[in-house]
Amino acid sequence: MSPHSDSGHEHGHHHTDIDWEVMAGQLENSGELQLPVLRRTADRLRGLLDPEKEVRRILDIGSGPGVMTCVFAEAFADAEAVAVDGTPGLLDRALTRAERLGLGGRVAVRHAELPGGLDSGDEHGGLGTADLVWSSRAVHHLGDQQGALNALAGVLRPGGLLAVAEGGLPMRFLPRDIGIGRPGLQARLDASLEHWFEVMRAELPGSTTVVEDWPAMLSRAGLTDVGSFASLLDLPAPLGETARAFLHTHLTRLRETASESLDVEDRNTLDVLLDPGAPEGILRRPDAFLLSATTVFTGVRSAR
Ligand SMILES: C[S@@+](CC[C@H](N)C(=O)[O-])C[C@H]1O[C@@H](n2cnc3c(N)ncnc32)[C@H](O)[C@@H]1O
Repeated sequence: MSPHSDSGHEHGHHHTDIDWEVMAGQLENSGELQLPVLRRTADRLRGLLDPEKEVRRILDIGSGPGVMTCVFAEAFADAEAVAVDGTPGLLDRALTRAERLGLGGRVAVRHAELPGGLDSGDEHGGLGTADLVWSSRAVHHLGDQQGALNALAGVLRPGGLLAVAEGGLPMRFLPRDIGIGRPGLQARLDASLEHWFEVMRAELPGSTTVVEDWPAMLSRAGLTDVGSFASLLDLPAPLGETARAFLHTHLTRLRETASESLDVEDRNTLDVLLDPGAPEGILRRPDAFLLSATTVFTGVRSAR
């Protein structure tokens, strides 16, 4: 979903530390819901590559459970797609998923802690180079975002494409007035997530601030033909079970990690939304929907 929809668990010393293993099911559900968008995105990325260029190797950096890695393997029949992540349990999921989809031969996984894991090029266990490098909602988990983009651009082969999904719009899933508490809850949830996000970034090792002008950052990473496009996920009410389960987990995490800045009334509203037995709860209410926009920023490494 949006980059702000991944608030993790209370864990360790900082309330913004994220336990990615615990997030596995949620990340895979999110990917499943986004499948139409991911497939469209793969097609658009193909259109941005030189038609003469052969795509032999694709890296999905910060892949999570590998939903997009598998979409790439399906969309680029001659390519090996490699899921790269710092969380072994997520890479196991990526492999299981690839096997289940009959893509086992063309999906590989590599465990790497970023950004260091990108540095070593082809030799000595580095990640090697690629014709297409994709990274969705991972760069914002690294302290030095410009440094991360520079490293991602550095593994591109000549004529290769870097595509980074960041920004977009916060997702919407409830009407303004939901009949419980004060109207406008979603805007206040966005504000509290924004606060959580800011603390999360400040606590990252080597945290640096940068104007998040992604096209300018891609240009500074040495890429050309820089641009962006956005895709909409529009699941109207009434929602199916996967979407409801996704929203329930999303609200649970929000209640646990990012509700400090909400008032008592809003926290009570969240409790009603989370109650599995309540007709007004997110698992049962008829008006819940899912609307989100993902923005993808792209740049090309010149062929010369
Ligand atoms: C929000 S999830 C995004 C997953 C997937 N790309 C998507 O868009 O759904 C962020 C991913 O980045 C990985 N990650 C976060 N920090 C990392 C780091 N320093 N090194 C390697 N992987 C990292 C996490 O394990 C997680 O799978």
